[in-house]
Amino acid sequence: MDMKAYLSENRQRMLDELFDLLRIPSVSADPAYAGDVQKCAEAVANLLTEAGAINVEVMATPGHPIVFGEYKVDESAPTVLVYGHYDVQPADPIELWDNPAFEPIIKTTPIHPEGAIFARGACDDKGQMFMHVKALEAMVASGDVPCNIKFIIEGEEEVGSDNLDDFLEEHKEKLAADVVLVSDTGIIANDTPSICVGLRGLAYVEVQITGPNRDLHSGLYGGAAPNPINILCEMIASLKDEDQRITVDGFYDDVLELSTDEREAMARAPFSEEAYKKSIGIGGTEGEPQYSSPECMSIRPTLDLNGIWGGYTGEGAKTVIPSIATAKISMRLVPHQDFEKITEQFMSHFEKIAPPSVSVKITPMHGAAPAVTPTDSPAYKAASKAMQDTYGKEPIPVRSGGSIPIVASFERILGLKTVLFGFGLDSDAIHSPNEHYGVFNYFKGIETIPLFYKYYAEA
Ligand code: BES
Ligand code: MN
Ligand code: MN
Repeated sequence: MDMKAYLSENRQRMLDELFDLLRIPSVSADPAYAGDVQKCAEAVANLLTEAGAINVEVMATPGHPIVFGEYKVDESAPTVLVYGHYDVQPADPIELWDNPAFEPIIKTTPIHPEGAIFARGACDDKGQMFMHVKALEAMVASGDVPCNIKFIIEGEEEVGSDNLDDFLEEHKEKLAADVVLVSDTGIIANDTPSICVGLRGLAYVEVQITGPNRDLHSGLYGGAAPNPINILCEMIASLKDEDQRITVDGFYDDVLELSTDEREAMARAPFSEEAYKKSIGIGGTEGEPQYSSPECMSIRPTLDLNGIWGGYTGEGAKTVIPSIATAKISMRLVPHQDFEKITEQFMSHFEKIAPPSVSVKITPMHGAAPAVTPTDSPAYKAASKAMQDTYGKEPIPVRSGGSIPIVASFERILGLKTVLFGFGLDSDAIHSPNEHYGVFNYFKGIETIPLFYKYYAEA
C-alpha cells in the first residue's frame, strides 16, 4: 500500500495515540510531575514496540529515563539514530490557555486551516518525536524499511539534558550509527520548507544582589542605604552599550564572523520585518545595527533577562528597601563561543561592576554548546530530496536561534553529524500558552521521514 493511503486509513488512530501522550503532563522541570515523566517514558516505549521496534527499554538515569528502541534490517544498510524528547516545559501561566494544556484539542487557526493540535508538547517535542514512531510503523507495514534505525527519546531536554552526555559515553556501542536525525526545530512556513542547519548554545545564570541585612523602611533609610533592586538594574543596564553590544569583557573573542557569501546565502530566506513585528505585536526590533533581524536571532549572541524580582510585588504600595534582588539571565551563544568560558567571563565581569555597597552571588544553571550542521553531506541531501518530494519545493537551509544541548554532544562523543529535520512553525507557540502543532505538519512529517530513509540508503 502506498504511504498516502496508509496514512489516510490510519489517520484517526495516529492522532488518538499522540493525544494519549499529550495527556501525560511530563514536565521535567517540576519534581511534582516525576511520576508522570516516568509514565510518559513507559508510554513511549510501548508505542515504539507497537510500531515494530525491538529491544525497547526504559533506561534509568540519575534524572528522568531515556527510552531506547531499534529496528534492524541489514548490517550493510546505514544506521540512523533518531533523537527526540518526551518531556515538556511547564504549562504556566495556565490561566492564559484557552483550553487546558494537557487536554489536547484540534482547532483551526488562520495559519492552520486544516486544524492544529493544541496542548503542551504538541510541537515541542511529542508531536514531532512521535512522527518518527509513526513513520516507522508505516514503513514496517509497507514492508520497506531502508535503514537500520535506533531511537533515543529522552526526558530532560527542557532542563538541559544534563545526564545525556554520560549516557552517550556509556553506551557508545549501543548507539553506534552513521547519522543522527532530529525533529525538534521548524520550517519557515507550510508552503516554504526549510532545514535547520544551526543552533545557538546557551549559558544561563541566576544573579543575586544583597544589600542591607534586612528589608528597611524606605523613608527612614532611603537615600543612604544601597537598594539592591536599583543596583541590579544599573548593573544589568550596563551589560549592553548604545550599539546593543554586550559589554562583558571578552564576550565576542571567539565569535565566528560569517563571510559575506554566507550572509548573502542566509538573506535569501524570506523574512518580512513588518510581518515579524505584527506577529508579536511590537513597534520595532532591537539588535546590533549592522546585522539584520534574522542574523541577530541566529548568528549573533544575545544576553537577555528571563526573570527579575525582589521587594514588594503584592497588592497596593509598600514603602520598602529590599534586602535582596534576583534575576535570571540567558546568553545565547554562537560558534565558537564556549559556554563554560562565557559563564566565567560573565561571573567575573558581573562581580567587577558591582559596587562595594552590595554583595553578589551568581549561580550557573544551564550550559549548551552551539552547533552547525553540514549542507553538503549525504544525509542533508537525502533530507532535502525528501522535502522536495513532499512539498514540491527545495528546502532552504536556515540557522535557528534555539538550542538543543545534545546536538554538539552527538558530534563530540559519538562522532556523528545531525540532520535537524523539524516541521514546526515559529508561530506554534512552543513554551508559551496555547502551544499547538499543525495536523498538516504532523502528517507531512510522517510522510516525509520515510523518504529520508529511502534517499539516505541510496546515497
Ligand atoms: N526544540 C527546542 C529548541 C528549538 C526550537 C530549536 C525551535 C530550534 C527551533 C528545545 O526543546 C528547547 O526549547 N531548547 C531549550 C534548551 C534549554 C532548555 C537548555 C532552549 O532553546 O531554550
Ligand atoms: Mn524541543
Ligand atoms: Mn523546548
